[in-house]
Amino acid sequence: MAVSKKVHGFISQSSWIRRMFEEGNILKKQHGAQNVFDFSLGNPSVNPPPEFKKALQQISREDLSGVHGYMSNAGYLETRESVAAFLRPLHGIPLGAEHVIMTCGAAGALNVIFKVLLDPGDEVLIPTPCFMEYRFYVDNANGNTLFVQTHDDFSLDLSAIREAISEKTKIVLINSPNNPTGRVYDNASIQGLSEILDVKSRTYGRNIYLISDEPYRDIVYDGVEVPSTLKVYRNSMTVSSYSKTLSLAGERIGYLAVNPALSHIDEVMAGLILYNRTLGFVNAPALMQRVIAKIQGVTVDVDEYRRKKDILCHGLASIGYEFSKPDGAFYLFPKSPIHDDIAFVRALQKRRILTVPGSGFGWPGYFRIAFCVDDATIVNSMKGFEEAFREGS
Ligand SMILES: Cc1ncc(COP(=O)(O)O)c(C=O)c1O
Repeated sequence: MAVSKKVHGFISQSSWIRRMFEEGNILKKQHGAQNVFDFSLGNPSVNPPPEFKKALQQISREDLSGVHGYMSNAGYLETRESVAAFLRPLHGIPLGAEHVIMTCGAAGALNVIFKVLLDPGDEVLIPTPCFMEYRFYVDNANGNTLFVQTHDDFSLDLSAIREAISEKTKIVLINSPNNPTGRVYDNASIQGLSEILDVKSRTYGRNIYLISDEPYRDIVYDGVEVPSTLKVYRNSMTVSSYSKTLSLAGERIGYLAVNPALSHIDEVMAGLILYNRTLGFVNAPALMQRVIAKIQGVTVDVDEYRRKKDILCHGLASIGYEFSKPDGAFYLFPKSPIHDDIAFVRALQKRRILTVPGSGFGWPGYFRIAFCVDDATIVNSMKGFEEAFREGS
């Protein structure tokens, strides 16, 4: 075997999302892209807002001498200042540029954080359903992942989290708005979680860190607000990116923000900056840093996603599918009409509809529909969704 035994195992369990995406590409070659309904990948369909193009054009007209070189590994100061100025009122804490590191997306930020905080064997506790790439990021840092189920409505089960925390727990990682459920964890549960972490940190005599992964923070519906974890819990960090909120997933630009009150903050920041470099990123893409410094607070048109969500929810509910309406993000996570979610996803695939089984998110019996696609894809897929439902129920 050329690869290590561990990697061999990981390749075979690796992401259902990517597997369905690749299978979709084969179907598209066979049947033509317009005849395949690809809801597999969270790849934004909505174009970046006009402000993005304007900023990019403006930068390309500026004097470019000296701007293509290496920079401080944390990122350009003016970019970090602009991100901090945006986050300060949002979280209501005295965040400065020195608490922000520009990263290669949220994925890059999480890898850096895990590398810096985890000793071998330390546990990262993650509520499920969740984005399963987390497992690999934790493993990259020699940590172990411990999954804890949420309630049936996908809200945080604080008692289960309290029970699961042990002397091995170093990090609790939450993702809100959540991929795959669209659930936003409410204020009371964030408050409750932070109280549990305070108590448990004292019990075990070491800090438990709360990391909040928030790449979908700006994509919320019906007035829902995403509570701040930075505001309520001292040993916390927030991770985010412009992949979804500006539709820049391929540009690999994001950041991490550290609570200024975090204990031993100087050492932690030094570690994070070191690993932003030595994990091989060196720094986040320079051009994108310069662009996003100019357009803080700008987002894609969330109404576009709201409309897609409504078309999808209305169509599926009238067929008889059961689901909770998402508070945010661009995913719907319905119950599979048959017990075996993988078999149901295969039944949809026969109708050229690509979704991802809930098993791929640690939650069998459900499946995920990424509705960041053209309206026509949603509308034209309904016949296949109905046929598969009737066949299964
Ligand atoms: C919950 C979650 N976290 C992190 C990421 C990675 O995002 P990025 O492209 O910013 O690295 C994704 C991507 O789909 C995601 O869904």
